Amino acid sequence: MASDQKTPRFSPAETTVVFLLGGPGSGKGTQSSNLVRDYGFVHLSAGDLLRAEQIRPGSQYGELIKSYIRDGQIVPMEITVALLSNAMADTLAEQAASGKAKNEKARFLIDGFPRKLDQAVFFEETVCPSEFTLFLDCSEEVMEKRLLKRGETSGRDDDNAESIRKRFRVFVETSMPVVDEFEKQDKVIKVQATGTVEEVYERIQDGFEKRGVRPSSF
Ligand code: ADP
Ligand code: C5P
Ligand code: MG
Repeated sequence: MASDQKTPRFSPAETTVVFLLGGPGSGKGTQSSNLVRDYGFVHLSAGDLLRAEQIRPGSQYGELIKSYIRDGQIVPMEITVALLSNAMADTLAEQAASGKAKNEKARFLIDGFPRKLDQAVFFEETVCPSEFTLFLDCSEEVMEKRLLKRGETSGRDDDNAESIRKRFRVFVETSMPVVDEFEKQDKVIKVQATGTVEEVYERIQDGFEKRGVRPSSF
């Protein structure tokens, strides 16, 4: 019988997906390192994957990605979802080849995605439904200070005052609705992301514990 029901590429029975959202400069990359170390997550940053694709020789999307990133706009989702889905497949293949036990679930922390509602729906339908979303809540004042400081050494085209302003706007108008939607589904762990890196991480660990997510050594 014909059906338009899509089957996700990866089953949540074998793969855990956690989304990590928060405004630009809220500390997603920084806290990801802690979560990789303690919880055995594989970290996939949508922004990092897009920046790598932007400079990949032969990429047909290099110029397009460059201009979207500089303007703080959201790159068309087909590109980003394909990059994430392929990175997940590569990781799972590597883990299988290295003899990871079959009963050990792969845990993916997907940083900076979904930035738009259509990305969220498309990813969950075609790649893998998410377990929950960790949301780092931070004021624009704090984020701007951090980003301007990061811009002194990051070499990123978008760590300048003008791009930062655009990115904040896109975050409020386009990405916050994703957090709101997952919140309605009771799938958000919201953490205050001001204070030191250690303070924020403690709040994240508390939030994980309340949801029954344990460090990988347990
Ligand atoms: P995001 O990935 O959300 O854009 P980053 O993790 O790259 O954010 O953090 C942005 C900048 O702020 C980086 O230079 C980082 O070192 C710094 N940073 C992250 N968390 C904190 C914190 N809690 N306090 C001070 N600086 C921070
Ligand atoms: O997350 P990060 O700050 O690295 O993202 C940088 C830029 O990459 C964003 O401002 C946006 O232009 C692009 N991006 C996107 N879609 C995503 C993640 C990032 O278009 N899901
Ligand atoms: Mg980042």
